[in-house]
Amino acid sequence: MTTRELQDKIIKLKQENDICILAHSYQTHDILEVADFTGDSYQLSLKAKEAPQKTVIMCGVRFMAETVKLLSPEKKVILSNPAAGCPMAEQMDKESITQIKELYPDYAVVAYINTTAELKTICDVCVTSSSAVKIVDKMPEKNILFIPDCNLGAYVAKKLPEKNFKLLQGGCPIHARVAKEDVIRAKESYPDAKLLVHPECMPEVVNLADFVGSTSAIIEFAKSSRNKEFIIGTELAIVQHLQYECPDKSFYPLSKNLICPNMKMTSLIDVLNCIEGNGGEDIQLDDDIMENAVKCIDKMIEYGG
Ligand code: 13P
Ligand code: SF4
Repeated sequence: MTTRELQDKIIKLKQENDICILAHSYQTHDILEVADFTGDSYQLSLKAKEAPQKTVIMCGVRFMAETVKLLSPEKKVILSNPAAGCPMAEQMDKESITQIKELYPDYAVVAYINTTAELKTICDVCVTSSSAVKIVDKMPEKNILFIPDCNLGAYVAKKLPEKNFKLLQGGCPIHARVAKEDVIRAKESYPDAKLLVHPECMPEVVNLADFVGSTSAIIEFAKSSRNKEFIIGTELAIVQHLQYECPDKSFYPLSKNLICPNMKMTSLIDVLNCIEGNGGEDIQLDDDIMENAVKCIDKMIEYGG
């Protein structure tokens, strides 16, 4: 079967079976083409909530499927490839953070959405890369224990100097690979290009950027900018998708190492297997996790995240 035939089969079957397919923007182009919605992790969970279908297939990583389930408990949520986890989300667990919380009793715990549902149960507020500064700014608490990403935490801390931040050594191993030397090299090669980076990159990289934002914010910035050239400091898929959508502009990767293997695990065959009931993982969370993890996401929505 050709890719096109496989895609047509998936599209026909998802309609017949009342299934909504979500694809994170880091997925490959063939997956985005069969999706009902594409976007960043948080946008996708909101889209899933609004979607009329009773079954959702999440093409992304585990914490994204869990977030969809937390916000749409009545829906069947299937993670397209059960092996696709986010290494950052798995760096910290409930037990270790419970112990750290005891050391900082007067700190509010702010969790990046890239955390497990279980860890979210003991956090106060959840944030995304696009909403972190806005939400922490609105929080009445001055003392913030920010987990797990110390790069995103450092970015938020720099924007909000009036608050006290405690950061832990966690973060995205893919974005952390980019070094200041990559920025210098890219700027030398493309002196007219704007540098757009994800806040999961190291502060020495973020500090040199023309724009810092989430996956979707980077896409929106590049599309609406009058500039014609861009160096993209996030997963390589974004370079490819932007080049496809904006053929009159040029997009260059900040580093060729910006590839998330977990985000590349999902194939069209995985999606077809999920639809046919032969694959994927039906996300099941304990009642206690469902009840308590959603609280910090609700808090994020309350703060306008
Ligand atoms: P976004 O929230 O920007 O989609 O980021 C998710 C992610 O995993 C980035 O590495
Ligand atoms: Fe996790 Fe980083 Fe991959 Fe995003 S790019 S899913 S944060 S490992």
